[in-house]
Amino acid sequence: MRYDSIVEAIGNTPLVRIDPAVHGLGHIDLYAKLEMLNPFGSVKDRAAWNMARDRLVTAADGGATVVELSSGNTAKALALLAGLHGLPFKSVTNRMRVPEIKELLLLLGAEIEELPGRSECLDPTDTEDPLTRFHQALAEEGGAYLHTDQYFNPRNTEAHSTGTGPEIVKDLDGRVPDWFIACVGTAGSSTGVARVLREHDPRVGVVGLVADKSDFIPGIRTLDEVHQVGLFDPATYDTIEPVTSDEAIDGMLTLIRRCGLLSGPTGGAAYHGAVRHLRPLDARLTERRTAVFIVCDRAESYLSYVRQRRPELLGRPPRKNSVESLGAEETARLAKETTVEEARRRLSEQAPPLVVDLRGPHAYAALHIEGSVNIPDELFAELVRGGLPFARSRPVLLACPVGERSARYAALLTRMGHPDVRSLAGGVVAWRDSGGPLVRD
Ligand SMILES: Cc1ncc(COP(=O)(O)O)c(C=O)c1O
Repeated sequence: MRYDSIVEAIGNTPLVRIDPAVHGLGHIDLYAKLEMLNPFGSVKDRAAWNMARDRLVTAADGGATVVELSSGNTAKALALLAGLHGLPFKSVTNRMRVPEIKELLLLLGAEIEELPGRSECLDPTDTEDPLTRFHQALAEEGGAYLHTDQYFNPRNTEAHSTGTGPEIVKDLDGRVPDWFIACVGTAGSSTGVARVLREHDPRVGVVGLVADKSDFIPGIRTLDEVHQVGLFDPATYDTIEPVTSDEAIDGMLTLIRRCGLLSGPTGGAAYHGAVRHLRPLDARLTERRTAVFIVCDRAESYLSYVRQRRPELLGRPPRKNSVESLGAEETARLAKETTVEEARRRLSEQAPPLVVDLRGPHAYAALHIEGSVNIPDELFAELVRGGLPFARSRPVLLACPVGERSARYAALLTRMGHPDVRSLAGGVVAWRDSGGPLVRD
């Protein structure tokens, strides 16, 4: 294999069969599409190259900066592509949550602009979001930026309908898999592959995977967040299913330890989601079927992510006081909730509860319940690790955007021995919708 440029090595990734002894499906051949073997390390190499390729030469002539809203793999691929063309690259994000990736981007020469904002992905109807303002500014700047616009750019999807999808069909000797399973970030890869598979055979079952509510799997979105993505169309998927970070890590461990595939968490999520979806279907099958899932990237960039959630995997003591250590059943059993009406009544009493707002500082500054203190989620997680952060004698009311994260913390603090900690049901959104008073900093 001889190339004039590394970009020629993008695509044509292997399709590898998973040993049935590992997944346990009797009638289904399960294949992994190894997108982590793209030259810059992920599925996003294809999208980045397809979005930028026709514009890089003009951009170089005009001295433009390549810019993208990305805190991960797209930024990585674009930083390298920009460098190849002698251009600077700027990553704009409010989600730089995995330290290794931030450091890697700096090593690649990227400039990182971390903006406050509720979501990395743009919601064009939300004019208060700083990222939305940034997006508008980019559109007005004209030639100074080459903005690849991954959440809205159809060339992101096209990279997969012309590359990834046809490669899968070719490697299956012209057959379309019966199921295709992929995690949803920008939705580019799942939409592009699904489109081309359906053109060949409309009966293909397409499973989209998102991070479980209030959970975080780097690179993919939750069900609520995915609706803000311009390329996302619910009709692409026969079903959209959630995966927890724990399940993603379990899947990743299986791929690494049993299959020799050095997958990252979203590859693990895809494997876990695929087997979970297929198992009940497999039990009813009498003929052989085929399924394909995508392994998006590799494990090495996620060591701190694993350390935070499963320290015992990295030879450290297990973490006791963390919401990740609570199962769904335990959360449901221990989390006490307070309705907005009840909360308003309690707050007007003599000894009101301490209201802790777990949202980010910008959301808090914009509007919050009067008298509440702001301890953002990540800081709060650190605090509780050291033990109960409040006196047992003081009732506590936890508030987050929609009441999911706060419910998990309420369960955790109850387990840690606090006698009166509650979660605001429906969160600050329910409080606002019911006309509850909010103040601004
Ligand atoms: C690690 C990882 N997995 C999965 C995805 C999802 O891919 P897509 O953006 O095509 O939906 C991404 C996208 O950023 C990613 O970075």
